[in-house]
Amino acid sequence: MKDTAHIIVFGNEKGGSGKSTTAMHTAIALLRMGYKVGTLDLDARQGTFTRYLKNRFQYILQRRENIPSPEHMAIERSKATTVAEQQIEEAAFMTMALDELSETNDFVIIDTPGTDCFLSRLAHSHADTLITPMNDSFIDLDLLANIDMNNFEIKGPSVYSAMVEEQRRKKMIYSRKTIDWIVMRNRIPHLSTNNNKIIADLLEKISKLANFRLTPGFGERVVFKELFLKGLTLMDLKEYQNNELTMSQISARQEIRTLIKAIGPERFKGHRKPLSPDEIKNKKISAKNDNIVNTNDLMDETAEQKKVKSA
Ligand SMILES: Nc1ncnc2c1ncn2[C@@H]1O[C@H](COP(=O)(O)OP(=O)(O)OP(=O)(O)O)[C@@H](O)[C@H]1O
Ligand SMILES: [Mg+2]
Repeated sequence: MKDTAHIIVFGNEKGGSGKSTTAMHTAIALLRMGYKVGTLDLDARQGTFTRYLKNRFQYILQRRENIPSPEHMAIERSKATTVAEQQIEEAAFMTMALDELSETNDFVIIDTPGTDCFLSRLAHSHADTLITPMNDSFIDLDLLANIDMNNFEIKGPSVYSAMVEEQRRKKMIYSRKTIDWIVMRNRIPHLSTNNNKIIADLLEKISKLANFRLTPGFGERVVFKELFLKGLTLMDLKEYQNNELTMSQISARQEIRTLIKAIGPERFKGHRKPLSPDEIKNKKISAKNDNIVNTNDLMDETAEQKKVKSA
């Protein structure tokens, strides 16, 4: 039985592979299963994950409907002058945010930027589960393994899988635990081409070399863009859509459930100790740090503004 949160990191050095979308869907699916979930956006500059949640809070305020939402934080990059100072500061922000979110939640979901950076590497070293969504392309595959494109021979690990291996080693040293790495294909086309089949075959082979599990992933679905604007996920549709779910929505929800099943949340749910008065005091102090933005405060603020307006 665990007494701290299980950390799920969404990572891939390739931009636009679906990390933020998948992170949001995983968070809401876990909340709807009754788990307490904290979320952390390390891509505060782009802020897609934070924006997604702000859209959700707006939706709640406008509709006065209480849909489950995580406790969310975002970490800004350090503005210290030297790289060494930046890294010390960012590591401290990460420890503070993780300590805070882990105390009260069963799961902490971390969304990382689509580039290699110190904060992202650090997050990977904290991952209990790492989920890598990847588009169905040879460019995405290239980050996982060096492949000879003439004969599709796998030459060895590539930049991203080498980085994951390095973080696995670090995690093993400081916690004696490994990272359960899951790779999922995203935006799978409805009609698969010969290339899609080759990619699926290659992924099977790379999974043994780089030691990850494969899960079926998500199909190409336009609904994701629309859901983002409303701050909703496929797991919210049943209650907040006037009409019945379409066949496409039902199968999309099934894809999310398959991902959750691969994570296996029931294996990690633990009982949490209540916080001591000192711990509660410290929690408030750390939440005041300027580089860590807690959007639950933002939601309170928006609620306050709303009250003032209607008064
Ligand atoms: N399965 C899907 N079908 C259709 N569109 C998708 C799917 N998954 C993600 N998208 C869309 O692709 C775009 C990129 O997704 P997302 O922002 O989640 O990727 P990301 O990996 O977080 O990107 P970045 O590396 O820039 O942070 C978004 O517009 C999103 O709506
Ligand atoms: Mg993103």
